[in-house]
Amino acid sequence: MAALIEAESVKRYYSNSTWLQRLLLLRGNDIQAVDGVTLHIDPGEIVGLVGESGCGKTTLGWLLAGLVQPTEGSVSFRGRSLASIDAETRKKVQLLFQYPRESLNPRHSVGTILGYPVRKMGYTGETEITARVHSLLDVVGLPRRYTDRYSFQLSGGELQRVALARTLALEPEFIVCDEPTSAVDMNVKVQILKLLADISREKGISLLFISHDLSAVRFIADRICVMYLGKVVEQAPAGQLFERPHHPYTKALLDAIADIDPQATRRATLEGQPPSPVAPPSGCRFHPRCAYQEQVGTLCMERGPELQPLSADHHVRCFLYPENGQKVEFDQ
Ligand SMILES: Nc1ncnc2c1ncn2[C@@H]1O[C@H](COP(=O)(O)OP(=O)(O)O)[C@@H](O)[C@H]1O
Ligand code: SF4
Ligand SMILES: [Mg+2]
Repeated sequence: MAALIEAESVKRYYSNSTWLQRLLLLRGNDIQAVDGVTLHIDPGEIVGLVGESGCGKTTLGWLLAGLVQPTEGSVSFRGRSLASIDAETRKKVQLLFQYPRESLNPRHSVGTILGYPVRKMGYTGETEITARVHSLLDVVGLPRRYTDRYSFQLSGGELQRVALARTLALEPEFIVCDEPTSAVDMNVKVQILKLLADISREKGISLLFISHDLSAVRFIADRICVMYLGKVVEQAPAGQLFERPHHPYTKALLDAIADIDPQATRRATLEGQPPSPVAPPSGCRFHPRCAYQEQVGTLCMERGPELQPLSADHHVRCFLYPENGQKVEFDQ
């Protein structure tokens, strides 16, 4: 199957220079927000993207949505570079923002907010526009009378539904959902996740679902990418990643949620904070926090492992696995 969205060795660096350095024409180290990610998303597929705060999830999402340009590498949609596609095709790629209250104009009613993209899609005449707005509210499970409401009258979950309806109005084929459930409680979270999964399956829309919440990602994603300090360290089908995680970082993340389950086997504890993406550690970026590093030795500090296949659909970036040039026996 041809991929819908493809990122090829994509990097996004931000300048970290102070005004004084700029004045003196000196260059500080860049922030390596995304550092060489290769990733594809198939039509209708839901890919989960997880990792601690600051690891580059939002930046990668913005790159895939074409909202920021890569420093290096490329992103393509249906085989054509996002940088050069026409405006019509460009609409097929959308982003659902993390904080809907901030992205919806408080002075406009829901009807006006949804009417704007509906008009942009070529609907004309009040009857036709109202019918389309109503059908969008039906899809996201909100009553049609909500056309008269304003954002301050809506709960967090309702706001996220309006934001989703506005995104769907543009008839996208791919939506980047950036932590869409981070600002709502547990019950609403489950409802939003079900809604996104249903819409994706019914309409064949691909999603990149970004979250630091592994249980949400497990619920919705077909495939999961784990990111650490700008790099993908493991990717696999969702069930496989949860049942047989390989990368020490993935194991540590899973252990963090297993804390609530006393029956779970502990494999690695994640201690401390991720290092700065301005000066990432040498070699494997995870080595200062890795519980398995001593099993491999100094190689982890000297060389950065490549993302290598364990099987056709399971990839890992770690010297514990033979494809990375070192065979180490260890207890999984
Ligand atoms: N516009 C920006 N300018 C400078 N630094 C940025 C910008 N956006 C993100 N960063 C930095 O890039 C890194 C990755 O950020 P982000 O993609 O937001 O991560 P996440 O979504 O995983 O929390 C962080 O160190 C962040 O401070
Ligand atoms: S390469 Fe070394 S430091 Fe990095 S995750 Fe694997 S064992 Fe740990
Ligand atoms: Mg983010």
